[in-house]
Amino acid sequence: MGSWSGTVVLLVTISAAVLSTPLINQLQPGQEWPQLVKQPSHESVEVISEKSTGEVEGELVIVKPQVDKTEPEDEGNEDEVTPEIDFKTKSLIEGKEDTQKVDYTGAQLWKVSTQKDGWRIVLSRLRRRNLISTWGTNGTTIDILVQPHAIQNVTNALKRENIPFDVIIEDLQTRINQENPPLDENEIELQDRRGHRMNWKQYHRLEDIHGFLDYLAKTYPAIISVKSIGKSHEGRDIKLLRISNGNPTNKAVFIDGGIHAREWISPATVTYFINQFAENFDVEHDDIKNIDWYFIPVLNPDGYEHTHVRDRLWRKNRRPGSGLRGCAGVDLNRNFGYRWGGKGTSNYPCSEIYRGPRAFSEPESKAVQEFFQNTAAKFSAYLTYHSYGQYILYPWGYDNAVPPDHNDLNDVGNNMAQAIKSVGNDNYMVGSSSNLLYPAAGGSDDWAKSLGIKYAYTIELNDQGTYGFILPTQYIEPVAKESLASLRVLAAAVHKI
Ligand code: ARG
Ligand code: ZN
Repeated sequence: MGSWSGTVVLLVTISAAVLSTPLINQLQPGQEWPQLVKQPSHESVEVISEKSTGEVEGELVIVKPQVDKTEPEDEGNEDEVTPEIDFKTKSLIEGKEDTQKVDYTGAQLWKVSTQKDGWRIVLSRLRRRNLISTWGTNGTTIDILVQPHAIQNVTNALKRENIPFDVIIEDLQTRINQENPPLDENEIELQDRRGHRMNWKQYHRLEDIHGFLDYLAKTYPAIISVKSIGKSHEGRDIKLLRISNGNPTNKAVFIDGGIHAREWISPATVTYFINQFAENFDVEHDDIKNIDWYFIPVLNPDGYEHTHVRDRLWRKNRRPGSGLRGCAGVDLNRNFGYRWGGKGTSNYPCSEIYRGPRAFSEPESKAVQEFFQNTAAKFSAYLTYHSYGQYILYPWGYDNAVPPDHNDLNDVGNNMAQAIKSVGNDNYMVGSSSNLLYPAAGGSDDWAKSLGIKYAYTIELNDQGTYGFILPTQYIEPVAKESLASLRVLAAAVHKI
């Protein structure tokens, strides 16, 4: 969601030159990354191709209307929707606004009951009319964002059908403004002395996160190395950090964060894991030490930066739209190459769940694919961190089906949830993502599982819809801490395979 009003002016030529960061970290001698041994084959991969959309090149300024039409929760595909352009977009197209941030003043978050089938249909209709967009859902409710001008309409529609709802956030912009307050002077001084600017009291810009990774590689060259596995559409590095004691019999675990730009708790949590292992490696449990860890804390760096500077609620990557009015962005978690193009995806570029023109059409997902093609590491687990809802989800996501070893996935998932509960008292639900949430094809978890990686999970971090994506900074540490406990459980399970 979030894109109904997110018209954006992109300075294409400038962004390519200014936004790319140089590759800082060279690997230390004796620290070569394992290369060129194939993962188990994935014969069942289906790739459905379409004609690719045209690319925009060399234009200096492109004004793009963002029209929100489809949502992750949509049942089935929405391939034939006609775009509507809302009021804010219109003024943008007319050139009244340029580089400003998208303003969510007056927008509200509502929790609406979906106990009856018919109620979902009413909501789908409202969504199609662009009056609402959906955030998260559980079995009995759905969180919807209501645009200021639509509040009256939506109220009437829900009342008419006797659909119960609560207003959870009265003014979204107020919450956004309060979410990530600046640090006080002491903290800033501390940062300078530490050699990096990362902490878990704040949500950080990409530069801080990448600076932190480079700092760790420089500080702990015996166990840590960093490399860029590729560049995003706008030329940013996709940085991968590896922690390993060099033991040749180690199994490997892969963890990504930030596939979805607005889910800020995800990169914050993944960097927390990295910090814990890096700073305390010597005293860590053997289960942790004897695994090769691979982390990509921000897999969607363009989207992540976009949520900091333009639109807090942006979800997708920043693939440029085609033509003057084309919509930007592919949902990277619909772009992976297993059963690509199936349920819960859209071929409409303005959709929040746009799958892209073909599997792995995006540099960000492609980089992950190529990394797995070229690595010798033996991956036993692939965790991908999202928010929100508090779920531990395992494949399959593409449809209501489970892999043959689903009992193992369920057992380990339950143990992970228990660890979370005992550390932070938060409840996480465990199940297959198609059953528990909704079918959605092209996710990184399904693709990892299709490669033969046993423990593939999507973790939906906190919360359960009080703050949703706009989770205040004081939650970062408790959420990351309890999640770390679940990661230890996973590590133990990996050793038992
Ligand atoms: N919230 C995630 C999404 O919509 C859930 C992904 C679960 N995995 C899947 N393959 N559908 O992308
Ligand atoms: Zn997500």
